[in-house]
Amino acid sequence: MFNEPSFIDVQNLQKVYKTGASELAVLKGITFQIKKGEAVCLLGTSGAGKSTLLQILGTLDRPTSGQVLYRGQNLFELNDESLAQFRNEKMGFVFQFHHLIQEMTAVENVMLPALIANENKLEAREKAMNWLQFLGLGERYDHFPNQLSGGELQRVAIARALIKNPEVLFADEPTGNLDSENSQKIQELFFELRNKLGLTLIVVTHDLNFAGLFPRVFKVKDGRFA
Ligand SMILES: Nc1ncnc2c1ncn2[C@@H]1O[C@H](COP(=O)(O)OP(=O)(O)O)[C@@H](O)[C@H]1O
Ligand SMILES: [Mg+2]
Repeated sequence: MFNEPSFIDVQNLQKVYKTGASELAVLKGITFQIKKGEAVCLLGTSGAGKSTLLQILGTLDRPTSGQVLYRGQNLFELNDESLAQFRNEKMGFVFQFHHLIQEMTAVENVMLPALIANENKLEAREKAMNWLQFLGLGERYDHFPNQLSGGELQRVAIARALIKNPEVLFADEPTGNLDSENSQKIQELFFELRNKLGLTLIVVTHDLNFAGLFPRVFKVKDGRFA
């Protein structure tokens, strides 16, 4: 029988940072599989290697050894250009800080990934407006980042992450910079997105309450899953 490959199959990931003469082993052999539509949390204290792992899973960085297979495709066999193209099509990212461009309005920020992918400007704008509306920011589309609250900024960043219809949404401490009320709203939003869009979620946090919402939690400790 033909076995369908896992959606994401992570095999013995290792990462060693070399700085000058010293080496720091941050990931020491991480193996796990993720099914499509799963919500996975990477939990751990500061410095545990969570961001390093997320960046490798999201192909923003390469491992020292080990593999990430995506529907059976060995991603790190791709060259940088093909990998970037794959990433732009399949993956969306949200970080602790929104990283919006201050000189651009909300809708212009959200359009950016579509424009970079050479999509038609009018269509990109319409899609961006739809995402902002979907995320409850329809009235705020022409506001600049300095005219938006922390929670609104993070929702604009989420809209920007979604405009290319990714299969996987990665988030690294997405509520780390928010007050508790906004933090809770954004946490709930991630699960709403997963349920409505069938997104696979891979989220880094050190917040135990946030982690408690996930059906699968991996504790990262000393470069391994504890
Ligand atoms: N580019 C880098 N070069 C050297 N060391 C790094 C680099 N990035 C992270 N580190 C180190 O790797 C360890 C894990 O970092 P990180 O993955 O950011 O942890 P976390 O996100 O869990 O706080 C830390 O000790 C950090 O200082
Ligand atoms: Mg981190």
